[in-house]
Amino acid sequence: MRYTHDFLVIGGGVAGLTCALRLAEFGTVAVLVKRGRAESSTNYAQGGIAAVSGPGDSFDQHVADTLEAGAGLCREEAVRVTVEEGPTRVRELIELGAEFTRDQSPSGFHLTREGGHSQRRILHAADLTGREVERALLNAIAEAKIPIFEDHAAVDLITVSKLRTSASKSSKTAPIKAEDDRVLGCYVLAPDGQVHAFLAKAVILATGGAGKVYLYTTNPDVATGDGIAMAHRAGAAIANMEFIQFHPTCLFHPQAKSFLISEALRGEGGILRNKAGEAFMIRYDARKELAPRDIVARSIDSELKRRGDDCVFLDMTHLPKAFLLEHFPNIYANCHAFGIDMAVQPIPVVPGTHYTCGGVATDLHGQTTLPGLLAIGETACTGLHGANRLASNSLLEGLVFGHRAADRAVEVARAATPALFETIPDWDPGAAVTPDEGVVVKQNWDEVRNLMWNYVGIVRTDKRLARAEHRLDNLLGEIEEYYWGYLVTRDLIELRNIADVARLIVACAQERKESRGLHSTLSHPDRDDAHCLHDTVLVRGRPAPQAWPRPSR
Ligand code: FAD
Ligand code: SIN
Repeated sequence: MRYTHDFLVIGGGVAGLTCALRLAEFGTVAVLVKRGRAESSTNYAQGGIAAVSGPGDSFDQHVADTLEAGAGLCREEAVRVTVEEGPTRVRELIELGAEFTRDQSPSGFHLTREGGHSQRRILHAADLTGREVERALLNAIAEAKIPIFEDHAAVDLITVSKLRTSASKSSKTAPIKAEDDRVLGCYVLAPDGQVHAFLAKAVILATGGAGKVYLYTTNPDVATGDGIAMAHRAGAAIANMEFIQFHPTCLFHPQAKSFLISEALRGEGGILRNKAGEAFMIRYDARKELAPRDIVARSIDSELKRRGDDCVFLDMTHLPKAFLLEHFPNIYANCHAFGIDMAVQPIPVVPGTHYTCGGVATDLHGQTTLPGLLAIGETACTGLHGANRLASNSLLEGLVFGHRAADRAVEVARAATPALFETIPDWDPGAAVTPDEGVVVKQNWDEVRNLMWNYVGIVRTDKRLARAEHRLDNLLGEIEEYYWGYLVTRDLIELRNIADVARLIVACAQERKESRGLHSTLSHPDRDDAHCLHDTVLVRGRPAPQAWPRPSR
């Protein structure tokens, strides 16, 4: 089966839904999601959305905080457009029906604070901000009658060059030049087990991050880096994958599946203590618990290694129970379900993989280096986050770039040649047979995630990276063989993608011979502005520093 639309949006989080809503004014849109329509990182966001709203705050201060957290690598243009357009996009979200926590302050909203922010500027819906954002956007999507294809997993992008490559196997067609290539759609695994072709004049990747590449993550199961892996396989430039953000505080409990304990708890006065009860952050940074996330996560890691402990504690017991229940009802209830009453006992916490700062390199309108392909949200690397994302800037980026990319996608669609759709063949499974060795997928899945956690974690070394490279290359060979030999399943698609993304992370980390932001290595412990003040850009796994799309306002 094949479907044709003007616009294909792959992903239904804040970025994809924002983009789809705007695109619906200009043509037909389809949204694909891998599981249920709300299942996304967006839906689990807790702390809030950073947007200048209070009287003491300014765009310049939000820009300065973002640049400071980004450790010298933010693209200032990307930071400025996000910060300056953010409040308008948040207002539109409120007009769509999103309810944020209100109070009597001049802005009318209760603004919380998180690490690296010099001001209270974070709008939130108690500690379930993401659920509220996703609810409001999904309601608007339903009202606009935009179709969402649930349980549809994008497998690979369809490009002119891939069509030529398959055709040239049987004829003497010359291979296409990179600049003449174009994305025409995507092959998609449907719930019936069949792979269908979704064709569109513009394809927008909004598939979120890649937390599942690591063993312990705050991310939901859908976060397997599919958009980054697909774009890379199709030849788009990928940037800054070494900058994987570890959230300092996930609940430490065998059944808690890395449940996030929001940074807003530290914003409201939470104190990090080691097992001896000592408030240790002062030994690491003068900003203590409110230092940027990379610093807090590394400090916890160092404290755990120094003492040989398995967790530290986040102490909220000095705050009134009524305050905790009002501001953090979801976190309170979740901790309680695991036998922890945060009003009377400190919460055991450890760091976990949280956010992918790198991704598909884009300009300021989500345009990638591949014509016909745009990328937004956590899948993209716009230059906003540099070497370390500032807390609560991600939902904001999804709103701002979802909107901007829609405007660009309309232009992209105008320049498309739908006649090419006629030449696209149906998915060909070749000689693939039904998989009979599910254990291979499970084994490789566990192996990738374990080795990334152990060798490419919060603190790295050249030796560990080389080990990871070697192991991943072996695994990738095995996975590719399995992928072509057996009919695709969602598990297999995700395994292939986490392995591809893991390899990109290692390749980028090996390129960066310094420690900066989230990339910390004992082999090169200092920041080296003289030699390393640049992005890490890869095309087809090879360094390509000139490939990042040029900024255009
Ligand atoms: P997502 O919201 O992750 O959506 C991805 C979508 O892509 C999903 O619909 C998924 O089904 C779909 N998809 C993926 N692969 C495929 C495929 N192959 N085929 C089809 N569909 C696919 N950020 C903040 O700014 N503030 C916060 O308070 C905050 N709290 C967070 C708390 C948690 C627990 C987590 C995990 C993240 C948090 N973040 C926060 C980060 C933020 O939530 C995400 O970065 C952001 O929501 C990403 O939005 P997105 O639209 O890019 O992707
Ligand atoms: C949190 O609530 O701590 C997460 C905020 C974020 O990731 O931006």
